[in-house]
Amino acid sequence: MPADLPLLDGRSMPALGFGLYKVPADEAGAVVDAGLAAGYRLIDGAELYGNEREVGDAVRRAVEGGLDRTTLTVTSKLWGEQSQSADAVRASFAASEAALGSPVDLYMIHWPRPARGQFVDVWRTLIALRDEGRIRSIGVSNFTDEHLRRIIGETGVFPVVNQVESHPWLPQHELRAFHAAHGIVTQAWSPLGRSRLLDDPVIGRIAAAHGVSPAQAIIRWHLQLGGGLTPKSTHPERLRENLDVDGFSLDDDDLAAIAALETGERTGTHPDDRQ
Ligand code: A2P
Repeated sequence: MPADLPLLDGRSMPALGFGLYKVPADEAGAVVDAGLAAGYRLIDGAELYGNEREVGDAVRRAVEGGLDRTTLTVTSKLWGEQSQSADAVRASFAASEAALGSPVDLYMIHWPRPARGQFVDVWRTLIALRDEGRIRSIGVSNFTDEHLRRIIGETGVFPVVNQVESHPWLPQHELRAFHAAHGIVTQAWSPLGRSRLLDDPVIGRIAAAHGVSPAQAIIRWHLQLGGGLTPKSTHPERLRENLDVDGFSLDDDDLAAIAALETGERTGTHPDDRQ
């Protein structure tokens, strides 16, 4: 199993977790059961995904079955579509907290909302919730370096993680360098390019040369960049496969071939396109 990544606040979290985006609520419990049984200790959830009650129930089942809860990092993210006032943020957080259990290990701002200029105030509310002991670590998602500079500059508090879309088409080198300079963990969402990268012939050739699957080759690439990632699968055998990435490493030629795949292509919709 890949090593843990140290966090700026003195805590740590697994480099490799599994995501629950678009996992229907009636399947989420089984996915979490399978993920924990496979050995995952990082669960990447969010208010938006609509399955937090099922995720929390599956975690509680596992703990009743003997799993040490303190080994888990269960995460959630604030969506904040309607309002980002302190009261609204607290209400959204309270719903996630009730579903997942308190304290929440890692809570992130899902998207910055620059059009409304509120993400610094939202960040202040997350800092307060952390200081009240209801969140262990606070982070952000889909922030650019400009957004990061603003929250850091205006509050003095760094996010431990910025979860952003990243895969070989979109390696995010500049943002990763900014994160590294400040000790912020880069955590990739859609790390497999929503599965479309699995059919890439370069990835296929590299995977075959190492006797691994395309997904395993891409996951290895993420880990060798020094970041974390949360690939999603609803299939137990794929969840196990995605965690089984310690037996090989990509060499310089592999990394150069993957670097040449960069196109800047995004598989997800950026919030600025929606506002
Ligand atoms: P499924 O959930 O049916 O297993 P990303 O994390 O980049 O968004 O990619 C998720 C997509 O990749 C999902 O469609 C998932 O399908 C698929 N996927 C995840 N792991 C594997 C794997 N090891 N082999 C093939 N497809 C995978």
